[in-house]
Amino acid sequence: MNTPPKENIPKHIAIIMDGNGRWAKRRLQPRFMGHRAGVKTVADIVKRCAELGVEVLSLFAFSSENWRRPGKEVSLLMELFSHALDNQVKKLHDNNIRLCIIGDIDKFTPTLQQKIAQAQELTRNNTGLIVNIAANYGGRWDITQSVRQIAQKVATGELKPEDINEEDISALLTTSALPEPDLFIRTGGEQRVSNFLLWQMAYTEFFFTDVLWPEFDSKQLDAAISSFSKRERRFGRTSEQLQGQSDA
Ligand code: IPE
Ligand code: IPE
Ligand code: MG
Repeated sequence: MNTPPKENIPKHIAIIMDGNGRWAKRRLQPRFMGHRAGVKTVADIVKRCAELGVEVLSLFAFSSENWRRPGKEVSLLMELFSHALDNQVKKLHDNNIRLCIIGDIDKFTPTLQQKIAQAQELTRNNTGLIVNIAANYGGRWDITQSVRQIAQKVATGELKPEDINEEDISALLTTSALPEPDLFIRTGGEQRVSNFLLWQMAYTEFFFTDVLWPEFDSKQLDAAISSFSKRERRFGRTSEQLQGQSDA
């Protein structure tokens, strides 16, 4: 497979992996089979991102709203996450990949929390791709927990309310060590953000595809990157300014 020039590769890709349930339903299978097939897609997309030299891949695995699903589906998703950690972490580590988990993991069982801690510990010094899994994650939760820490600093007199700036809030988000996403991909046809990285995606390029997550593959990832590479990211400026045609 061709590798596009480095400057066309987003540093950080964030994905909402959606459509597992519908994929299974189309095949007259229980929803869970879709989630299982989705884990295989994760492995393929991680591999392709590592090949392309992407720095960070953020994957939305379980949202803070997904607890509203039937209890059986939630517990099967937890089991799947736990098995994926058992089976995939060594391979990630062998490939110099660093695994990070963001989200309110206090709500998970102690065993799952322990596996998450071990996986992060094992891979923490790896220097290749960072795979950032959002589990029991919500963008509003992330902003809230940042603001809560800021309020504590104000309460202790460490910070004055009038000195609070955007950097202070960013620095206490769960993604503070990572660049902001350049490209956001959502599979499964829905065109919404579903409480993913709300603050962090202020200037992210969006790419939506009808392809269901179990059928998303490296070719489609390449197509999303190709679309991204053709866009002009103006960050509020004019096109002329970016092309150096303006003296302003
Ligand atoms: C995404 O697939 C996976 C999770 C939310 C865990 P869905 O389960 O939302 O699949 P659809 O949207 O019902 O097809
Ligand atoms: C978003 O997918 C969360 C994950 C992919 C983990 P959902 O399928 O839960 O999103 P909504 O609720 O349809 O927006
Ligand atoms: Mg869905």
